[in-house]
Amino acid sequence: MLKLVKNIGLMVIIALGGITMAQASGDSAYHLKKNDWPHAGPFGKFDKAALQRGLQVYKEVCAACHSLNMVAFRELTALGYSADEVKAFASEYEFADGVNDDGDVKYRKGLPQDYFPAPFASETEARDSNSGALPPDFSLLGKSREHLSMFTPWNSIYGEDYIVGILTTYHEEAPHGVVLAEGMHFNEAFPGNQIAMAPPISDDLVEYADGTPATMEQIAHDVATFMYWAAEPKMEVRKAMGLKVIIYMSILTILLYFVNKRVWKKVKKGDDLV
Ligand code: HEC
Repeated sequence: MLKLVKNIGLMVIIALGGITMAQASGDSAYHLKKNDWPHAGPFGKFDKAALQRGLQVYKEVCAACHSLNMVAFRELTALGYSADEVKAFASEYEFADGVNDDGDVKYRKGLPQDYFPAPFASETEARDSNSGALPPDFSLLGKSREHLSMFTPWNSIYGEDYIVGILTTYHEEAPHGVVLAEGMHFNEAFPGNQIAMAPPISDDLVEYADGTPATMEQIAHDVATFMYWAAEPKMEVRKAMGLKVIIYMSILTILLYFVNKRVWKKVKKGDDLV
């Protein structure tokens, strides 16, 4: 018995050590700052005002290069907009709609059921406009760059912190000894520290509809919130369901405990069970 406990203990220590070492070896010299997110934690909810500002940043700045292929306009009601506001928002876009009698492409206004149009018609066009680099689609980026570690949570990387990191940790000049490839910019958060995207935001780049001062940090925070929502629009439903399941299971556990006690009440230790 003692041997078994010892062996299990040894295995746990080796596994934990391996995980920590694997993570340490992937470390860059820079560490991502952890930000406070109202939507984090088991009871977290999205900050709707931040989501609306983030949408404005996406539309006015990022949408020039980054697509958002999996988000339809109708889903924007989750950001606190009414159905009419979403309709008006959608109608600012134009979509090709067949051809007219002369063979020319016809256009129609966007409808709530349409998806955000991509800025480039193809990957080749996107790369040609960005010195060979491909601006990734934003639909899942907020989640796909996440690396959560169960055993060493302090090493976890959250998608929103990564996005804020990318947007706010550019260096005007590469540190001493680092040679940047042509067209590249030095960025602390990007793996390898060389990114093809030029710094996309700066103070007062947008004028927020709600009057919030548009500092660089604020813009980064808002667009990261919006991108996280785009990647997981049903987060609040998931958390609410999780909570209900835990409450249900807790009550069930208590009931089963008493049922178990009652069922075995009359059986004494050493009784023959058959
Ligand atoms: C002029 C075009 C352009 C604009 C505008 C732009 N980006 Fe980018 N972005 C790029 C390109 C190109 C890359 C790919 C960089 C690379 O692979 O080196 C990129 C990469 C990124 C990445 C890193 C993705 C990854 O693979 O991990 C993030 C995050 C990002 N952009 C966020 C934004 C946000 C947020 C905005 C708006 C505030 C924005 N970008 C505006 C061109 C752009």
